[in-house]
Amino acid sequence: MGGGKGGIGKSLIAANLGIQLARQGRKVVLVDADLGGANLHTCLGLDIPRLSLSDFIERRVQRIEDVVIPAGVPGLGLISGAMDHLDAANPKYAQKMRLMRHILTLDVDYAILDLGAGTHLNVLDFFLVSDHGVLVLVPEPTAVENVYRFVKAAFWRRVRNVVAVYGFEEVLRSVMGDRGFHSPVEVIQALRVQHPEAGATLEQELLSFRPALVVNQARTPQDSELGHAVVAAWKKYFGLGMDYLGCIDYDEAMWRTVRARKPLLLERPTSPAARSFEAVAARLVALDEQRGDREVPR
Ligand SMILES: Nc1ncnc2c1ncn2[C@@H]1O[C@H](COP(=O)(O)OP(=O)(O)OP(=O)(O)O)[C@@H](O)[C@H]1O
Ligand SMILES: [Mg+2]
Repeated sequence: MGGGKGGIGKSLIAANLGIQLARQGRKVVLVDADLGGANLHTCLGLDIPRLSLSDFIERRVQRIEDVVIPAGVPGLGLISGAMDHLDAANPKYAQKMRLMRHILTLDVDYAILDLGAGTHLNVLDFFLVSDHGVLVLVPEPTAVENVYRFVKAAFWRRVRNVVAVYGFEEVLRSVMGDRGFHSPVEVIQALRVQHPEAGATLEQELLSFRPALVVNQARTPQDSELGHAVVAAWKKYFGLGMDYLGCIDYDEAMWRTVRARKPLLLERPTSPAARSFEAVAARLVALDEQRGDREVPR
């Protein structure tokens, strides 16, 4: 759950999507990966948990299971964010990857990571290891700019990682030279000419970069359309796919329930925003079933 911008609803969407999926019988763990500003517990109406991600990062506990606390809904757990150690706000790459490896061993159907704002490498790396990196967008020009900036930064970080893994740094550097490439398609075409193997590898790896998108705080039908427009623009200018999961209505129940420290889906289950979560969760589950790349419980 990322998007580059602060205060757009990433944490609330993570919390309520988690509740929705758990209610549908999925096993879900919410991970507060906003390393500088953990507040997912508040979105769930929980007090500051005694155990958190920092206990795992600092190896005070060995097993990731030990920092999962019940989140108030059957089937839903929370790994609360690091709060006490400033060091934990800036873990090394190896620590992040260890964390992700352990999260993947959890016996859950979905691990939902709430990311911080901005395009810091900590945020991008968590976004990139997800099955569905979900971009959150509010219908405002500044947020649209930020979401493009974020997804491009994530994409080029992915290119760098892939190129490093395969040892194609030199050939990429010589192809890029000082020519200003704008789209991955252009880079891959140029790479194919100079080094067919590198071009084919990069193309294959990058086709799997397929973020998802949620438009939050939709007030008009045009706001929902914005999601389709962003997907179309990404395809046109970047040549890559993106899945639109749908929009969440702007709903005063959303901020009222935050102020009351109660999750929207538990407190106001028939509100318009709560209904939107049903549709977004259904779309996410359908995507997984289509992809067939994981076991989906019935
Ligand atoms: N659909 C919505 N309808 C009405 N208000 C909303 C909606 N979504 C979010 N908000 C408001 O936006 C605020 C910020 O939401 P949230 O904390 O989830 O954002 P965030 O992106 O996680 O922020 P940060 O980057 O600071 O972590 C909420 O407290 C709520 O008041
Ligand atoms: Mg947040």
